[in-house]
Parts: sequence; structure tokens; C-alpha cells
Amino acid sequence: MDISALNAVAVAMVTPGKGILAADESTGTIKKRFDAIKVESTDQTRRDYREMLFRSDGMNCISGVILYDETIRQNAADGTPLVKLIERAGSIPGIKVDEGTQPLPGCAGETVTVGLDRLADRLAAYYAQGARFAKWRAVIDIDKDKIPSMTAVHVNAHALGRYAALCQAANIVPIVEPEVLMDGDHDIGRCFDVTRPVLNEVFRELRLQRVALEGMILKPNMVVSGKTCPVQAGVAEVAERTVQLLKECVPAAVPGIAFLSGGQSDEDATAHLDAINRLGPLPWKLTFSYGRALQAAPQRAWSGKAANVPAGQRAFTHRARMNALASRGQWTH
Ligand code: 13P
Repeated sequence: MDISALNAVAVAMVTPGKGILAADESTGTIKKRFDAIKVESTDQTRRDYREMLFRSDGMNCISGVILYDETIRQNAADGTPLVKLIERAGSIPGIKVDEGTQPLPGCAGETVTVGLDRLADRLAAYYAQGARFAKWRAVIDIDKDKIPSMTAVHVNAHALGRYAALCQAANIVPIVEPEVLMDGDHDIGRCFDVTRPVLNEVFRELRLQRVALEGMILKPNMVVSGKTCPVQAGVAEVAERTVQLLKECVPAAVPGIAFLSGGQSDEDATAHLDAINRLGPLPWKLTFSYGRALQAAPQRAWSGKAANVPAGQRAFTHRARMNALASRGQWTH
């Protein structure tokens, strides 16, 4: 493990004015997104769609792209590997390595993320294919009082620690993603109270498993109200509570924090990131690692038609630029 090389990649992933594009939807998830725009999901439409993004001007604002296993192996229509398109755009290719969630025995309604078996071999193969960072998403359910259980928090944190240690041994920077979901009618205080032990347990496991904090990126949820909570916290409160919690739980040795969007609207995701960065200076760089909040607009504009590629690219570039401004705390309506 070369910690200074890992640190250099992690620092590049959170370059000021840039952020990460999460384009690592599994085949099942991208099918759901394509269903919504009435596009058949085939290996070719998935390739065409992602090629459109990777060739757009918006890539100037993208430090790294998280890919799915299928995409890291695909070529553009002209035969150029998609990984090469990303590298030529000055961006770093990354790979999702978790294999989704399974029900957690004894904890009704909760899950654990799987994919540790043979992960060392898979990481070595992905490194050879150009991946310099990876992602593993732990999903933490939340309700008003009982969920998550400490069992779910612990097993998911333990798996994140195992994953992160294996990544660093393979000279791959781990994005450590513990996602407390937005689904539900809980208030912002409950999100804060749940996210705190989740982050504390994750860092406890990272330390126990000897992960070099300088060579990782944290990908947390923001502290927000549940989607169906009747009282929705405003932008300023989301920013304040998120920063308060991160200061308490995230060591300054971590180079960067790249938030997930988690189902926030495009504009909320941008406004929240901007407000968070206006509360600086903070010990880490804070940027985006958005999937839906970067891709919903280009998916609608493209709608599977070759003639709409320029419109899809414009829509993507616009969202990427707005979020890039927010990563510096310089976004305005
Ligand atoms: P969203 O921004 O759509 O939440 O996706 C980010 C991601 O990578 C989730 O694992």
C-alpha cells in the first residue's frame, strides 16, 4: 500500500470546483431510470447514454466517474474504451464494487451490503482496467424510533471497514458510503440522531481495520428531513446541522467528503452543498458525488434519441457547473 499515492488520488477527487459523477447504476436501477423516460434498457442504449455524458463539456467539472462493472468494459461507438474517454476528459475512473443488499437476519426490514467474498481479486482486475477508486454503499434504514438497530449499523460499518482495507491494499482509494435513507416521515432531528452513531461506528471500524484516513473519501448523506415529514427543514438548517455533525464525527485526516444526493431535487442538492461550503473554512474539501441530481435532467432531455444528444449534454453540463460552483460556495440562483 502506497499511502502517498492513495492520498494524491483522494485529493484529486475533491479538487476545488469539481466533483464526482455517480454513473454506477446497476443494470436493474438504470432500467428503472430508462423506464421513466420510455427508453428500452439494452447494453447499447446504456452505452450510448453514458457515452453522451462522458463526451460532454460538463466533464470539465467532474473529477471522477463511478462506473458499474458492465460500463468499465464497454467501448464507445467508435471503439474507444469508455474508460479512455473519461481519462481524456481529465477525470479519474472508479468502480462500484458492492453487490447490493441482503436482508439482515433477526432485524426485520433492515439490510446488510454484500460483496466481500473474492473482493481482493476483483479489485486487482479493476485496477488493471484503469480504476483508481472504488465505491461501497451501506444502506441504513430509518424510522421514527426503532430503526436502525445497532446490529445493522455495526455489520454495515464492519463491511465498509473490510472493503476499505482491501481497496487500499490494492492501491485503490475507497469511497466509504454509509447512506442513511431519506425515505420516511421522520424529522431532521431524527436524521441527525441516527447519522451520528452511524458515522462514529464507521470511523471506529476504519481505525480498527487500519484504514489510512488520508487515502479515502467519505460519501455521507446530508442531515435532512424525511421525504414525507410534514415539516421540511430549510437550506440553512440542513447546512448547519450537516456541518455540525461532520465536525463532530469526521477526522480532519480525511481529505474530502463527497455527498450523495439520495433523492433530493436537483436544485436542493445544489443549494444544500453551496450553503454547506459557505459555512467554511472546514477541515476537509466538501463536494458532490451525485447520481440522480446530475442525471435526471440529461435523461429527460435525451430520451433515447440520437438527435437529442446535444440537448442531453447541455442539461448535464448545466447541472455539473451548478454543483461545481456549489463546491466552492459560489452558486447563485
Ligand atoms: P444519488 O446521488 O442518486 O443518491 O446516487 C449516489 C450514489 O452513488 C448512491 O450510491
